[in-house]
Amino acid sequence: MSLRLGDIAPNFKANTSSGEIDFYEYLGDSWGVLFSHPADYTPVCTTELGKTALLKSEFEKRNVKVLALSVDSLEKHKGWINDINETQHTTVNFPIIADEDKSIANAYGMIHPNASETFTVRSLFIIGPDKKVKLMITYPASTGRNFHEVLRVIDSLQLTSVYSVATPADWKEGENVIVVPAVSTEDALKKFPKGVDIVKPYLRYTPQPNK
Ligand code: BEZ
Repeated sequence: MSLRLGDIAPNFKANTSSGEIDFYEYLGDSWGVLFSHPADYTPVCTTELGKTALLKSEFEKRNVKVLALSVDSLEKHKGWINDINETQHTTVNFPIIADEDKSIANAYGMIHPNASETFTVRSLFIIGPDKKVKLMITYPASTGRNFHEVLRVIDSLQLTSVYSVATPADWKEGENVIVVPAVSTEDALKKFPKGVDIVKPYLRYTPQPNK
């Protein structure tokens, strides 16, 4: 059975480019992003890991620890990191797991046999401080992910974990949010003193409450 939203993210021990780690210990009380790529020394993956490294301060600002994974060896990871640093003008600053026995990839359903029997697809999991899976995305090998979108989702997840709001399509930090249907309009007016714009009884906007 593959992982689903709300499931506990399986813990694991792994060999990584930053040494041996225990996943839960690595995360501590932080949020986590665990993402797989098909293979080292490939072009799209090089840009993805470079972009993630360049966004280090954005992940840190949000209290998020990042962890990459492929089924390549540690030796390959170490050589490839030099290429990423050189070509993407950055320093890879997060661990890359060498999941040679595919145990972690299998636990997280990162191998999709009809896409590739051997390589992981581009899976990405956002894990909350409670170790539960908050988001999963899966991209094919041919399409690099948008890491600004990953940050946008983290902003939404962190906001909606604290306030009774949801975020509309294309929402970005600072924009109006939606009052969740479970909150009555009477209660919404008390909870959100900045005001509630009632477009329909089920479609009610309020300014982002923590801004
Ligand atoms: C890439 O990262 O460029 C890539 C990896 C596997 C298949 C196709 C592209």
